[in-house]
Amino acid sequence: MDLYEHQARELFEEHGILVPRAEVTDSPKEAREIARRLGGRVVVKAQVKTGGRGKAGGVKLAADPAAAELTARQILGMDIKGHTVGKVMLAQPVDIETEFYVSYVLDRAAGGFLAIASAEGGMDIEEVAATRPDAVARVHIDPAEGVTSAKAGEIAEAAGLPPQTVDVLVRLWEVLIREDALLVEVNPLVRTRQGQILALDGKVTLDDNARFRQARWGAEGAEHDDPLEAVAAAKGLNYVKLDGEVGIIGNGAGLVMSTLDVVAGCGARPANFLDIGGGASAQIMADGLSVILSDPAVKSVFVNVFGGITACDAVADGIVQALDTVQLTRPLVVRLDGNNAARGRAILDERAHPLVQQATTMDGAARRAAELANAA
Ligand SMILES: Nc1ncnc2c1ncn2[C@@H]1O[C@H](COP(=O)(O)OP(=O)(O)O)[C@@H](O)[C@H]1O
Ligand SMILES: [Mg+2]
Repeated sequence: MDLYEHQARELFEEHGILVPRAEVTDSPKEAREIARRLGGRVVVKAQVKTGGRGKAGGVKLAADPAAAELTARQILGMDIKGHTVGKVMLAQPVDIETEFYVSYVLDRAAGGFLAIASAEGGMDIEEVAATRPDAVARVHIDPAEGVTSAKAGEIAEAAGLPPQTVDVLVRLWEVLIREDALLVEVNPLVRTRQGQILALDGKVTLDDNARFRQARWGAEGAEHDDPLEAVAAAKGLNYVKLDGEVGIIGNGAGLVMSTLDVVAGCGARPANFLDIGGGASAQIMADGLSVILSDPAVKSVFVNVFGGITACDAVADGIVQALDTVQLTRPLVVRLDGNNAARGRAILDERAHPLVQQATTMDGAARRAAELANAA
């Protein structure tokens, strides 16, 4: 789970990293009050879980409380890369001398963490990384040793960061470990004209597998970035929204993953991942179909089931009953194979729903679902 900037800021502060004074609100009127409390001039920052807010107009300087209210009004409700701004953070402006980039990220392939750091941080870090990769230092971190002062010194030196950043680098590692994070990123970490090192923007991704011991994010954790994912989670479905047109339902994560690949191989894009597991009940089918069909991008749906302990006739019964409760508005291609496949197919044939077609192979079904999606 990604945290909002203001939550990352809070963690940094708890671990002794200097951050600007700041407060969060969803109300322009309150923004004015906050600006007054913070001394008048403030930076108004959209709270959305995506980067590049500055370039999208989601980070603006306001000269006084009245301007802060106006700016908050502009930024609240704004769309930044598909994320609607629900809250703004107002932060004290900092007199920046230099902007640095630092992050720790899990490096699965190396079995450790990677420190990435650059003396050229700020809004153009992606460009720096792409055009001058040598300006970005990468240092492997052995997770058993962590970031000691010596290691932090090594990272700072490799990136050309000033020695004062060493303490922050050690504390940032503490954030990662204590908070069970997979990523902590500070961009920019700045040196002010007064010589202080401050974290001005933060991104933290928590490890969902450690959620049980990070109780403070409990309620927050139930929050999904995508509204359909939130609806699906509330129904107990294992659903992930993707960007394509072919809705996918399958049983077993492995089968669903390969179904996504096969659909992509047929020239269409999967609209989602949905694993109904061993659940073939009409309720699960109906819930799954209704979530998928409420995605306006979906042009066809592919149900791919390999019957095992859950036999195909039970799945077919589930589909038939689901068709009574969910209004099918787009074509459904069903492939049943494995345990009791023939009985399952017969059940669907008998129902003879005009929008339901069957295919006997996974490839054939994927091709058909892709054709239908592309023709729509
Ligand atoms: N409190 C602040 N004081 C002064 N400048 C700031 C402050 N917060 C952000 N900025 C400036 O705005 C830029 C973009 O803000 P940032 O929080 O990094 O958003 P994003 O990375 O999403 O664009 C920063 O690189 C920095 O130059
Ligand atoms: Mg930033």
